[in-house]
Amino acid sequence: MVGVMALLPLLFNTVLGAKLCPNHCLCYESSDLVDCQSRELTHIPHGIPHGTWLLDLSGNKLPEVRSGSFTGLWSLRILLLTNNSIQTLQPQSLSSLQFLERLDLSFNRLRWLPQDFSQSLSSLLELRLDHNLLQQLDSPSLNHFENLKKLDLSYNHIWEMEVRVLSSLSRLNLLNLEGNKLNVLKDGLLTRQQSLEVLLLSHNNISLIESGALSPLRSLILLGLQGNQLEHLKFKTFLNLHTISTHLQMSFNPWICDCELQRVFSKIQHVRHLQVEDYKDIICHAPAQQAGASLASMDSQLCMAETASVLVITITVMLAVFGALVKAERNRKNKQTVSDTDSQEK
Ligand SMILES: *[C@@H]1O[C@H](CO)[C@@H](O)[C@H](O)[C@H]1NC(C)=O
Repeated sequence: MVGVMALLPLLFNTVLGAKLCPNHCLCYESSDLVDCQSRELTHIPHGIPHGTWLLDLSGNKLPEVRSGSFTGLWSLRILLLTNNSIQTLQPQSLSSLQFLERLDLSFNRLRWLPQDFSQSLSSLLELRLDHNLLQQLDSPSLNHFENLKKLDLSYNHIWEMEVRVLSSLSRLNLLNLEGNKLNVLKDGLLTRQQSLEVLLLSHNNISLIESGALSPLRSLILLGLQGNQLEHLKFKTFLNLHTISTHLQMSFNPWICDCELQRVFSKIQHVRHLQVEDYKDIICHAPAQQAGASLASMDSQLCMAETASVLVITITVMLAVFGALVKAERNRKNKQTVSDTDSQEK
């Protein structure tokens, strides 16, 4: 009898839990975990238990997230919406998720983020928006992500980021922007990212890194720039990077191999806290006679011609100066001899 009494609450909970679980979903741990994965859902089911901690709606056919969809889910920490067809997040659609820590919206069809997107998500630590159709990022949309540590925006169509768009994200550790269409890494974009450790920018269209763009990054460990449109670099850009140890990845760019480029890479290699991880794979795209060769295979050859011409010019100038001095001296002596003879004749 005592045994049955002890079992009663458990039994009660299970029955209640089962009752509260929305149609088509499975609920575990007395409804803390609600699994509605891959159920061909076209709308978010009703009756999600208030105590839900993790809600998995991935792999469905949701076309949008409507206002008030998650009202009352105060306990929600993890929301998975990956692999749907979400095109729109209606205003207020994520409000009431003040304690949400992880939001996965990857593999959807978002073209833009609503202005109030971050407004009630100030507890968020990790946000995945990769594999969507985003084109531009404007500043209000990310303004309240003060605690965000990981932001994945890779494989979108982002060609423009307003310079202030990341200015609230001072705790960011990882920023993934791989596979977008960025052209320039602008001064001022990363001003508040002192904690940023990993910055992934590979497979964009970046041809210019403005010289102060990297200077705020005090914690950077990895900078990925492979597969962009870089032809040249300025040493100053990297000299401004005051970190303990940073690995750089810069292969698969159309490098123009000249003396200047060789010097910049050589200087970078001599800075103790900077390491070009893929230096052996820095392949020249131009000029034609160097195309296809690796920069590393050229030693200081590219600067040789320049050194030689500098030497020739120096020697020529020195010879000219020397000649002029000799001539002047000879003239002086001649004059002296003439005046000596003059005074002797008098
Ligand atoms: C990529 O950058 C080049 C300049 O380096 C520009 O001419 C071209 O339009 C850019 N492409 C895209 C898709 O933005």
